[in-house]
This record gives sequence, C-alpha cells and structure tokens, in this order.
Amino acid sequence: MLSIELHGAKMPALGLGTWQLSGTACETTVRRALELGYRHIDTAEMYGNEAEIGRAVAASGVARKSLFITTKIWTNHLRAKDVGPTAESSLKKLKTDYVDLLLIHWPNASVPLGETLGAMMKLKDAGKAKAIGVSNFSVGQMNEALTRHKAPIACNQVEYHLLLNQRPILDYAHRHSMAVVAYCPLARGKLINNRTLARIGQKHGKTAAQVALRWLVQQPGVAAIPKATGEVNLRANLEIFDFVLDPPEVEELNRLTGNTRIIALDWQ
Ligand SMILES: NC(=O)c1ccc[n+]([C@@H]2O[C@H](COP(=O)([O-])OP(=O)(O)OC[C@H]3O[C@@H](n4cnc5c(N)ncnc54)[C@H](OP(=O)(O)O)[C@@H]3O)[C@@H](O)[C@H]2O)c1
Repeated sequence: MLSIELHGAKMPALGLGTWQLSGTACETTVRRALELGYRHIDTAEMYGNEAEIGRAVAASGVARKSLFITTKIWTNHLRAKDVGPTAESSLKKLKTDYVDLLLIHWPNASVPLGETLGAMMKLKDAGKAKAIGVSNFSVGQMNEALTRHKAPIACNQVEYHLLLNQRPILDYAHRHSMAVVAYCPLARGKLINNRTLARIGQKHGKTAAQVALRWLVQQPGVAAIPKATGEVNLRANLEIFDFVLDPPEVEELNRLTGNTRIIALDWQ
C-alpha cells in the first residue's frame, strides 16, 4: 500500500468511503474491510455512522495507532462554540481519543472561515485531531485558509475521478504540500464499464474499476476513498498496488478527464 505524508503522519493512499453505510451493514462492512487490510476509514458527522464504525474498529482488534480515521464537521457546526463539542461527540462515537484527520465537510459562507479554523487548530494542539483539513474547497478557499488564516491545512477532500478534471486544485495542493483525497473515485459506479479502462485493465489482469483507482493513487499526493460493500469489491479495490500504469496509458487516461460531476457544488 502506498501512503501519503501528511504533516508527519502517513495516510494510506486507499481508504474506505462510508457514506450511505449505516447500521449493521456499516458495521459488517467496516469489520470486513479491516480484516482484508484496510487501515484508512473515511466518515463524517453527517453520515450518522460514526458509532457503527467505532464498534467495528473496537471489535476488530486492530491497534488504533495502525489506523487512519478521518471525520468531518458538518456546515451547521462550524461556529467556534460548536466545533469542539461536535468533535468530542465524534470521538466518543468512534471510541477514540483522536482522529487522524478532521475536516470542514463543506464551506459555509455564513460562518467566518477563520473562526472555524481557529477552533480546529485548538483541537489539533490538544492532540484530538492529528491533522486538520477541508473538503469541497475551491482554490480560492484553500488559499484563504492557508495564507490569510495560516491554518496548517493538510488536505482538501474533493470529488475527483477520471471524468472530472481537478487540475487547478491538484496544482495548488501540490505547491503547498497538501494532499488531495479523491471522493467518488469511481464516479459512483459510472466508471466500472468504461471501455478504455477495461482495455487497459485487460493488459494488467485488472478491472476497469481497479484501473480508475490506480490512476488516482499513482498521482503524487492523491488518495482515494472508494465505498464498497461486498467482499469482492472491497478486496478488488485494495488490489491496485501490484501494478503500474505506464506513461502512455496515463496519457491516454488523462485525455478522458472532463467536467462530469456526481455531486453538484451548489446543492446547498
Ligand atoms: N467530502 C464529501 O463531501 C464527500 C462526498 C461524497 C462522498 N464522499 C466520500 O467518498 C466516498 C466514496 O464516494 P461514493 O461512495 O459516493 O462513490 P464511489 O466510491 O465512487 O462509488 C461507490 C459505488 O461503486 C461501487 N463499487 C465499489 N468498488 C467497486 C468495484 N471494485 N467494482 C465495481 N463497483 C464498485 C460500490 O458498490 P458496492 O457498495 O455494492 O460495493 C458503490 O455502488 C463516500 O463513501 C464518502 O466516504 C465524501
């Protein structure tokens, strides 16, 4: 497994996405993922599944220090007075003293960014979040966080897959030693029957989905967090570290990138 340097910590380049997983299905999936070797779990206050994840981790017997857990604060809890209690509630549900990465889930123009980041930095200083970051931030918002508020932003988690060109975000992140975590890395299933991916995959004995994920994690500073439920998909998504896409293949795939978004940025 490749990993990404994140302000001194190591983030496994492949994590498990858990949006829309809840109840027993979530607990079983996370448990199975940990058994298969996943060590990076992505959740959020808004997903309503932190307690299930906490139980699955506790039951797995996997040492906390070998896990990388991300959670996110939703838009209604970004005031300074809410950030600490919200994070504490997440920690309690996750049955842990710290998260590896704490993110602002979505920017909220009605709360001053500096206020939220200030409260998050206090959590970082207290050791409750090893690193802090943002999600769904534009380049301008990333720049505001870094340069105006001097916040140690470790990553921006954004929608990123072969159908969506994210060059400006990637370039900014790279210039400022930030990671990019790709959500919807399989374009929520849209990529699994892609002919170009399937053809390239055939040469490597891999599926289209595996090539789509490999294309992401092969990029410097990029991690991917596909959500999968059954054992077959969970296992397949981990098996992307035993092959390499060569430069002509990467070039061909780069030419596919377009403007297809799964999650509208203005849904709020
Ligand atoms: N920060 C944000 O605002 C934000 C927004 C959206 C998502 N996210 C995070 O990103 C994660 C991933 O995004 P997503 O769940 O929306 O979409 P995704 O990971 O692109 O796609 C998930 C879909 O792909 C299928 N799949 C997974 N592995 C497969 C494989 N090897 N072959 C074929 N199909 C496969 C899954 O099916 P099965 O479940 O049946 O295996 C599921 O239907 C989320 O779970 C969440 O943690 C964050």
